[in-house]
Amino acid sequence: MRQIGNNEELAQYIKWCSDHHKSVGFVPTMGALHPGHLSLVDIAANENDIVIVSIFVNPTQFNNAKDLEKYPRTLDKDAKLLTQTECNVIYTPSVSDVYPTSFIPRNADLGMLDTTLEGHYRPGHYVGVVSVVQRLFDLVQPQKAYFGRKDLQQVAVIKTMVKQFNYPIEIKVGETVREESGLALSSRNSLLTTTEKKEAVAISELLFEMREWSKVLDPLACETKAIKKFEETTMQLEYLSIIHPLTFENLIDEWVPGATVCIVAYCGEVRLIDNLELVPLT
Ligand code: PAJ
Repeated sequence: MRQIGNNEELAQYIKWCSDHHKSVGFVPTMGALHPGHLSLVDIAANENDIVIVSIFVNPTQFNNAKDLEKYPRTLDKDAKLLTQTECNVIYTPSVSDVYPTSFIPRNADLGMLDTTLEGHYRPGHYVGVVSVVQRLFDLVQPQKAYFGRKDLQQVAVIKTMVKQFNYPIEIKVGETVREESGLALSSRNSLLTTTEKKEAVAISELLFEMREWSKVLDPLACETKAIKKFEETTMQLEYLSIIHPLTFENLIDEWVPGATVCIVAYCGEVRLIDNLELVPLT
């Protein structure tokens, strides 16, 4: 595995891949890697000749300066983890590599995705995600790029951007990797105390319980019951919403295939996000 830290070297490597007809699979990350990230690397390795993983803590997608400051940075450990995978290149650009003064990001029209759930609670977040991912796509020029279902709304945002900007890139989605307890793996979990980590398990427990309730209740009743149950926990709910998997519209009376519950809650100071498909897609 090779580490590339500047754009000139990356451009040379990408040219070599293109000249040698090597397909490139790309996994963008912000580091503090865990098995959720590594699962995307494994999928990419199965589907491409070359796998490039980027590690860049993108300042423009943090709408809270303290959150950006606290974000875990563990590059040495990340590099070590990636050497145990089939990753070929770890790309670690600087802020000026990603955001040279000449770079003017294009804005995508995200419609409702920018105003509901994450769009609503993290204003400007997806503008930041769209700008960094378009820049990384322009630099890496992959044939396929890999994202986790854990950030389902981010997947919808990236797919919308790819369509609007006509990127010849296939977006592939990996399932959410969980701890044995059910807790979705997240870089932010490292910020939880031992007690908080135990408390946080109530999030996924509730989501899996909702899957059972969805067999007998309509979406609104299921959502209401879940919000009430969540009040019994020590965590602070930001939102819990059952949505259509493509439009992200809140479902009320009728279930649709792929109906998904999305949740964000604060466990102490740590903002945790999760979702679960309640009704199978087919
Ligand atoms: P980051 O939070 O580091 O996540 C990188 C990728 O790993 C994302 O696609 C995310 O959905 C996926 N991922 C995180 N936890 C996962 C889990 N438990 N199981 C499976 N996949 C998981 O998402 C970002 O970075 C940034 O927004 C980024 C796309 C890199 C743009 O800056």
